[in-house]
Amino acid sequence: MNIGFNAEKGLGGVLVPPADKSLTHRAFMLSSISSGTSTVIDPLKTGDCLSTIGCLKSLGIEFSIKSFGEGNRSEITIHGRGLHGFREPLNVLNAGNSGTTMRLLSGLLAGLPVYAVMTGDDSLLKRPMKRVIEPLRAMGGSIAGRDNGSYAPLTFLPGEGLLMPLDYELPVSSAQVKSSVLFAGLRSKGTVVLTGKIHSRDHTERMLKAIGLPVTVNGEMIKLEPVVELPAFDFRIPGDISSASFFIAGALLSGKELKVIDCGINPTRTGFIRVLKRMGADISTEETEVRMGEPIGVITVKPSSLSGTMVTEEEIPDLIDEIPLIAALAVSAEGETVVSGAEELKHKETDRLVTTANMIESLKGTITVFNDGFMITGPQRLKPGIVESGGDHRIAMTGAVLSTFTGGTIVVNGFDAAAVSYPNFIEHFISLGGKADE
Ligand code: S3P
Repeated sequence: MNIGFNAEKGLGGVLVPPADKSLTHRAFMLSSISSGTSTVIDPLKTGDCLSTIGCLKSLGIEFSIKSFGEGNRSEITIHGRGLHGFREPLNVLNAGNSGTTMRLLSGLLAGLPVYAVMTGDDSLLKRPMKRVIEPLRAMGGSIAGRDNGSYAPLTFLPGEGLLMPLDYELPVSSAQVKSSVLFAGLRSKGTVVLTGKIHSRDHTERMLKAIGLPVTVNGEMIKLEPVVELPAFDFRIPGDISSASFFIAGALLSGKELKVIDCGINPTRTGFIRVLKRMGADISTEETEVRMGEPIGVITVKPSSLSGTMVTEEEIPDLIDEIPLIAALAVSAEGETVVSGAEELKHKETDRLVTTANMIESLKGTITVFNDGFMITGPQRLKPGIVESGGDHRIAMTGAVLSTFTGGTIVVNGFDAAAVSYPNFIEHFISLGGKADE
């Protein structure tokens, strides 16, 4: 699907972003191993999260979906089967394009007395899995994959259900790896201790704590004590700040005001806002409530002029999904913007250092790419043109919002990729003042 986007008149107004993808995955997975019936209200029900539902259904979990009200409002009831309750799937589990599905579900499957095989689409088959398979094997999971467990399809051989305790130094800053090990740790005979690169989005730690499980966190260590059962819970999912970020960038690129409501503002997800403030953006967050340990609130963006900044390795985990947008804003900002320590971008749905550079260059901008980041000197005048999504949702949507800045139409080839995280992106693009044509 190729779509022409035009936002010459700017993007602004009020936005209710789609539900948070990371929280939806975790809510579906944890409720499926709870001992009771949980309700997840207003989850993300498309793309990656449907991959999670599909896999969990194949493992014997029942989902009842009730839609109500306007838009995407719905309530999903999940009948948990307990920590050891997954049934052996009849066929191969398919995680589609979703790294979160494959990596987190690996933690729930490792060592269970079932035989399961998990695969994904062409992009997922290229993404590194050793980072989860290694610690899960150390806990006693018998898992095979291509190239000695480096890549999917992954095969889980039946185990006895319980896993070994683990003391593990995380070698990569990845919430998916951390969460996979903590999910496996729910069936550990002893304590699981994680040290090393533990700083990444902390939704799993917050959820487990909010549900009442014995997890403790300090700056250097995460500790999960043995768990007997996981109580059922109800959770209304807030908006996804990574999805809202496309329109935050669109408003700043076009000098418009934007208010984002009912949005997650967990500090491990707001690194983009901190960088924008440093660039001179007039942007503020106001917390209105806390649900499941997650701060939720309103983000207000006002017209601002931006200047370049340095984004360093320590900041990357808190803005890992927003780096293509930092490139988009750097083009309009006065001076140099340098992003470094971002090698992890090579392992996303595409090699995002390459696809971000291709996007800027295909609109006649200039960017210098390094092994772990890039440099952009602004302000530059971009020109309307064609952006190839390469099947990457975040590149597709960044391309669309750049049309606030190019004074014409940007055609995004392969825009359908956006559906994995932002199914109603085009509707929101139009309601905030843009035009989109097939
Ligand atoms: C996610 C973690 C991040 C992020 C992805 C979702 C999660 O990946 O890029 O979109 O839900 O845990 P890593 O933490 O593995 O970098």
